[in-house]
Amino acid sequence: MSKEEEKKLLELFNPKNKKILDVGCGDGRYATLFAQLCQEYVGIDISSDLIKRNLWNNKYQNVSFYEANIVSYKPSMKFDIIILSLSFHEIDIKEQGLALMNMLNLLNDDGKIIILDPSLSTDSFQALWNIAYENFKYFNHDYIVQHTHDVITKACDDNLCRIVCKDKLDIPFYFSKLKDVCDMIAEDDDFSLINWSEKDKEILSRLLKDFIKKENDITLFDKLDITVLEKR
Ligand SMILES: C[S@@+](CC[C@H](N)C(=O)[O-])C[C@H]1O[C@@H](n2cnc3c(N)ncnc32)[C@H](O)[C@@H]1O
Repeated sequence: MSKEEEKKLLELFNPKNKKILDVGCGDGRYATLFAQLCQEYVGIDISSDLIKRNLWNNKYQNVSFYEANIVSYKPSMKFDIIILSLSFHEIDIKEQGLALMNMLNLLNDDGKIIILDPSLSTDSFQALWNIAYENFKYFNHDYIVQHTHDVITKACDDNLCRIVCKDKLDIPFYFSKLKDVCDMIAEDDDFSLINWSEKDKEILSRLLKDFIKKENDITLFDKLDITVLEKR
Protein backbone atom coordinates (compact mmCIF):
# COMPACT_ATOMS: atom_id res chain seq x y z
CA MET A 1 0.00 0.00 0.00
CA SER A 2 1.30 3.43 -0.84
CA LYS A 3 2.23 5.83 1.98
CA GLU A 4 -0.36 8.32 0.61
CA GLU A 5 -3.11 5.73 0.94
CA GLU A 6 -2.05 4.66 4.43
CA LYS A 7 -1.86 8.27 5.65
CA LYS A 8 -5.25 9.17 4.17
CA LEU A 9 -6.98 6.14 5.70
CA LEU A 10 -5.58 6.82 9.15
CA GLU A 11 -6.65 10.48 8.75
CA LEU A 12 -10.21 9.43 7.87
CA PHE A 13 -10.74 7.22 10.89
CA ASN A 14 -9.02 6.02 14.00
CA PRO A 15 -8.94 2.20 13.89
CA LYS A 16 -8.03 1.94 17.58
CA ASN A 17 -10.32 -0.60 19.30
CA LYS A 18 -12.65 -0.65 16.30
CA LYS A 19 -14.29 -3.65 14.65
CA ILE A 20 -13.48 -3.40 10.96
CA LEU A 21 -15.06 -5.21 8.01
CA ASP A 22 -13.05 -5.08 4.76
CA VAL A 23 -15.40 -5.89 1.89
CA GLY A 24 -13.69 -7.34 -1.20
CA CYS A 25 -10.50 -7.55 0.81
CA GLY A 26 -8.48 -9.00 -2.10
CA ASP A 27 -5.05 -10.08 -0.88
CA GLY A 28 -5.85 -8.71 2.61
CA ARG A 29 -3.33 -5.86 2.41
CA TYR A 30 -5.41 -3.75 4.83
CA ALA A 31 -5.24 -6.49 7.48
CA THR A 32 -1.54 -5.76 7.91
CA LEU A 33 -2.22 -2.04 8.35
CA PHE A 34 -5.04 -2.42 10.88
CA ALA A 35 -4.37 -5.65 12.80
CA GLN A 36 -2.15 -4.12 15.47
CA LEU A 37 -4.43 -1.14 16.01
CA CYS A 38 -7.99 -2.42 15.79
CA GLN A 39 -9.97 -4.72 18.06
CA GLU A 40 -11.01 -7.03 15.24
CA TYR A 41 -10.53 -7.15 11.48
CA VAL A 42 -12.73 -9.31 9.24
CA GLY A 43 -11.93 -9.53 5.52
CA ILE A 44 -14.45 -11.01 3.10
CA ASP A 45 -14.14 -11.70 -0.61
CA ILE A 46 -16.08 -13.75 -3.15
CA SER A 47 -12.84 -15.23 -4.42
CA SER A 48 -12.18 -18.51 -2.58
CA ASP A 49 -8.57 -18.60 -3.85
CA LEU A 50 -7.78 -15.21 -2.30
CA ILE A 51 -9.42 -16.15 1.00
CA LYS A 52 -7.55 -19.48 1.17
CA ARG A 53 -4.27 -17.66 0.54
CA ASN A 54 -5.06 -14.98 3.16
CA LEU A 55 -5.96 -17.62 5.77
CA TRP A 56 -2.74 -19.45 5.04
CA ASN A 57 -0.62 -16.27 5.43
CA ASN A 58 -2.45 -14.76 8.41
CA LYS A 59 -0.45 -14.41 11.61
CA TYR A 60 -2.78 -12.23 13.71
CA GLN A 61 -5.22 -13.48 16.37
CA ASN A 62 -7.72 -10.67 15.78
CA VAL A 63 -7.82 -11.11 11.98
CA SER A 64 -10.18 -13.48 10.16
CA PHE A 65 -11.10 -14.02 6.52
CA TYR A 66 -14.25 -15.50 5.00
CA GLU A 67 -15.34 -16.34 1.50
CA ALA A 68 -18.61 -14.42 1.20
CA ASN A 69 -20.66 -12.22 -1.10
CA ILE A 70 -21.45 -8.90 0.62
CA VAL A 71 -25.00 -9.03 -0.73
CA SER A 72 -25.85 -12.05 1.45
CA TYR A 73 -23.21 -11.87 4.20
CA LYS A 74 -24.90 -12.17 7.62
CA PRO A 75 -22.33 -12.32 10.43
CA SER A 76 -23.44 -12.36 14.08
CA MET A 77 -21.58 -9.13 14.95
CA LYS A 78 -21.85 -5.51 13.83
CA PHE A 79 -18.96 -3.28 12.75
CA ASP A 80 -17.70 0.24 13.54
CA ILE A 81 -16.01 0.64 10.16
CA ILE A 82 -16.85 -1.03 6.86
CA ILE A 83 -14.25 -0.33 4.23
CA LEU A 84 -14.46 -0.98 0.49
CA SER A 85 -11.24 -0.27 -1.31
CA LEU A 86 -11.68 -0.49 -5.08
CA SER A 87 -14.37 -3.09 -4.52
CA PHE A 88 -17.75 -1.29 -4.53
CA HIS A 89 -17.63 -0.78 -8.32
CA GLU A 90 -16.66 -4.45 -8.73
CA ILE A 91 -19.83 -5.73 -7.07
CA ASP A 92 -22.32 -6.97 -9.67
CA ILE A 93 -23.99 -3.82 -11.01
CA LYS A 94 -27.48 -5.26 -10.36
CA GLU A 95 -26.59 -5.95 -6.72
CA GLN A 96 -24.80 -2.78 -5.63
CA GLY A 97 -27.98 -1.31 -4.07
CA LEU A 98 -28.66 -4.52 -2.10
CA ALA A 99 -25.03 -4.66 -1.05
CA LEU A 100 -25.23 -1.11 0.35
CA MET A 101 -28.46 -1.94 2.26
CA ASN A 102 -26.84 -5.03 3.75
CA MET A 103 -23.76 -3.03 4.79
CA LEU A 104 -25.95 -0.43 6.51
CA ASN A 105 -27.55 -3.29 8.48
CA LEU A 106 -24.11 -4.56 9.50
CA LEU A 107 -23.06 -1.15 10.84
CA ASN A 108 -23.17 -0.05 14.49
CA ASP A 109 -25.29 3.06 15.03
CA ASP A 110 -22.30 5.42 15.01
CA GLY A 111 -20.36 3.38 12.45
CA LYS A 112 -19.01 4.52 9.09
CA ILE A 113 -18.80 3.03 5.61
CA ILE A 114 -15.69 4.18 3.74
CA ILE A 115 -15.71 3.73 -0.02
CA LEU A 116 -12.60 4.27 -2.17
CA ASP A 117 -13.39 3.92 -5.84
CA PRO A 118 -11.90 5.12 -9.14
CA SER A 119 -12.70 8.70 -10.04
CA LEU A 120 -14.21 9.66 -13.36
CA SER A 121 -11.53 12.23 -14.12
CA THR A 122 -10.26 12.28 -17.67
CA ASP A 123 -6.62 12.89 -16.75
CA SER A 124 -6.21 9.86 -14.52
CA PHE A 125 -4.67 6.43 -14.57
CA GLN A 126 -8.26 5.14 -14.90
CA ALA A 127 -8.79 7.12 -18.11
CA LEU A 128 -5.82 5.31 -19.58
CA TRP A 129 -7.29 1.93 -18.61
CA ASN A 130 -10.60 3.02 -20.09
CA ILE A 131 -8.91 3.47 -23.46
CA ALA A 132 -7.67 -0.10 -23.28
CA TYR A 133 -11.06 -1.42 -22.07
CA GLU A 134 -12.98 0.36 -24.80
CA ASN A 135 -10.68 -0.75 -27.60
CA PHE A 136 -9.87 -4.27 -26.50
CA LYS A 137 -12.65 -5.37 -24.15
CA TYR A 138 -15.47 -3.32 -25.64
CA PHE A 139 -16.95 -2.19 -22.36
CA ASN A 140 -17.28 1.16 -20.72
CA HIS A 141 -15.78 1.17 -17.27
CA ASP A 142 -16.95 4.74 -16.53
CA TYR A 143 -20.55 3.53 -16.85
CA ILE A 144 -19.97 1.13 -13.95
CA VAL A 145 -18.19 3.76 -11.86
CA GLN A 146 -21.01 6.24 -12.47
CA HIS A 147 -23.49 3.55 -11.41
CA THR A 148 -21.85 3.30 -7.96
CA HIS A 149 -22.25 7.09 -7.54
CA ASP A 150 -25.94 6.78 -8.49
CA VAL A 151 -26.51 3.95 -5.99
CA ILE A 152 -25.03 6.04 -3.17
CA THR A 153 -27.07 9.12 -4.18
CA LYS A 154 -30.28 7.07 -4.26
CA ALA A 155 -29.64 5.56 -0.80
CA CYS A 156 -29.11 9.12 0.54
CA ASP A 157 -32.25 10.40 -1.21
CA ASP A 158 -34.16 7.47 0.34
CA ASN A 159 -32.93 8.61 3.79
CA LEU A 160 -31.07 5.37 4.45
CA CYS A 161 -27.70 7.07 4.93
CA ARG A 162 -25.90 10.37 4.52
CA ILE A 163 -22.54 11.41 3.16
CA VAL A 164 -20.42 12.79 6.01
CA CYS A 165 -17.23 13.36 4.06
CA LYS A 166 -15.98 13.40 0.49
CA ASP A 167 -12.30 13.37 -0.27
CA LYS A 168 -9.79 12.49 -2.97
CA LEU A 169 -6.63 10.47 -3.07
CA ASP A 170 -4.07 10.67 -5.88
CA ILE A 171 -1.52 7.88 -5.92
CA PRO A 172 1.41 8.46 -8.30
CA PHE A 173 2.76 5.70 -10.54
CA TYR A 174 6.10 6.26 -12.24
CA PHE A 175 7.16 4.75 -15.57
CA SER A 176 10.47 5.31 -17.32
CA LYS A 177 9.03 4.74 -20.80
CA LEU A 178 5.75 4.37 -22.65
CA LYS A 179 6.48 0.71 -23.44
CA ASP A 180 6.34 -0.09 -19.70
CA VAL A 181 2.82 1.35 -19.55
CA CYS A 182 1.75 -0.81 -22.54
CA ASP A 183 3.31 -3.90 -21.01
CA MET A 184 1.56 -3.30 -17.70
CA ILE A 185 -1.83 -3.20 -19.43
CA ALA A 186 -1.16 -6.14 -21.73
CA GLU A 187 0.00 -8.26 -18.78
CA ASP A 188 -2.91 -7.37 -16.48
CA ASP A 189 -5.37 -10.17 -15.57
CA ASP A 190 -8.21 -8.18 -17.17
CA PHE A 191 -6.54 -8.64 -20.55
CA SER A 192 -5.18 -12.14 -19.98
CA LEU A 193 -7.56 -13.69 -22.50
CA ILE A 194 -6.27 -11.48 -25.29
CA ASN A 195 -3.59 -13.10 -27.36
CA TRP A 196 -1.72 -9.86 -28.04
CA SER A 197 -0.39 -9.71 -31.61
CA GLU A 198 2.33 -7.23 -32.57
CA LYS A 199 -0.37 -5.25 -34.39
CA ASP A 200 -2.55 -5.09 -31.26
CA LYS A 201 0.41 -3.84 -29.25
CA GLU A 202 1.11 -1.18 -31.87
CA ILE A 203 -2.51 -0.01 -31.72
CA LEU A 204 -2.40 0.09 -27.91
CA SER A 205 0.87 1.97 -27.96
CA ARG A 206 -0.49 4.56 -30.43
CA LEU A 207 -3.66 5.07 -28.38
CA LEU A 208 -1.68 5.50 -25.18
CA LYS A 209 0.80 7.84 -26.81
CA ASP A 210 -2.02 10.12 -27.97
CA PHE A 211 -3.27 10.17 -24.39
CA ILE A 212 0.01 10.49 -22.49
CA LYS A 213 1.86 12.60 -25.09
CA LYS A 214 5.23 11.50 -23.65
CA GLU A 215 7.69 8.70 -24.34
CA ASN A 216 9.85 8.87 -21.20
CA ASP A 217 9.62 9.69 -17.47
CA ILE A 218 5.86 9.30 -17.25
CA THR A 219 3.94 9.94 -14.03
CA LEU A 220 0.35 8.83 -13.94
CA PHE A 221 -2.02 9.44 -11.04
CA ASP A 222 -4.37 6.76 -9.82
CA LYS A 223 -7.18 9.13 -8.81
CA LEU A 224 -9.59 7.80 -6.24
CA ASP A 225 -12.78 9.30 -4.81
CA ILE A 226 -13.41 8.69 -1.14
CA THR A 227 -16.94 8.73 0.23
CA VAL A 228 -17.73 8.31 3.91
CA LEU A 229 -21.28 7.30 4.80
CA GLU A 230 -23.20 7.09 8.07
CA LYS A 231 -26.60 5.54 8.49
CA ARG A 232 -29.62 7.65 9.33
C1 LIG B 1 -9.97 -4.52 -7.22
S1 LIG B 1 -10.09 -5.73 -5.97
C2 LIG B 1 -9.65 -4.76 -4.54
C3 LIG B 1 -8.99 -5.58 -3.48
C4 LIG B 1 -8.60 -4.83 -2.19
N1 LIG B 1 -9.73 -4.22 -1.54
C5 LIG B 1 -7.53 -3.82 -2.44
O1 LIG B 1 -7.78 -2.61 -2.29
O2 LIG B 1 -6.42 -4.22 -2.79
C6 LIG B 1 -11.86 -5.97 -5.75
C7 LIG B 1 -12.21 -7.21 -4.92
O3 LIG B 1 -13.62 -7.23 -4.68
C8 LIG B 1 -14.05 -8.58 -4.66
N2 LIG B 1 -15.50 -8.63 -4.85
C9 LIG B 1 -16.20 -8.33 -5.97
N3 LIG B 1 -17.52 -8.49 -5.77
C10 LIG B 1 -17.68 -8.86 -4.45
C11 LIG B 1 -18.81 -9.19 -3.64
N4 LIG B 1 -20.05 -9.15 -4.14
N5 LIG B 1 -18.60 -9.54 -2.35
C12 LIG B 1 -17.34 -9.61 -1.84
N6 LIG B 1 -16.23 -9.34 -2.57
C13 LIG B 1 -16.39 -8.96 -3.86
C14 LIG B 1 -13.23 -9.20 -5.81
O4 LIG B 1 -13.16 -10.61 -5.71
C15 LIG B 1 -11.87 -8.52 -5.63
O5 LIG B 1 -10.98 -9.28 -4.81
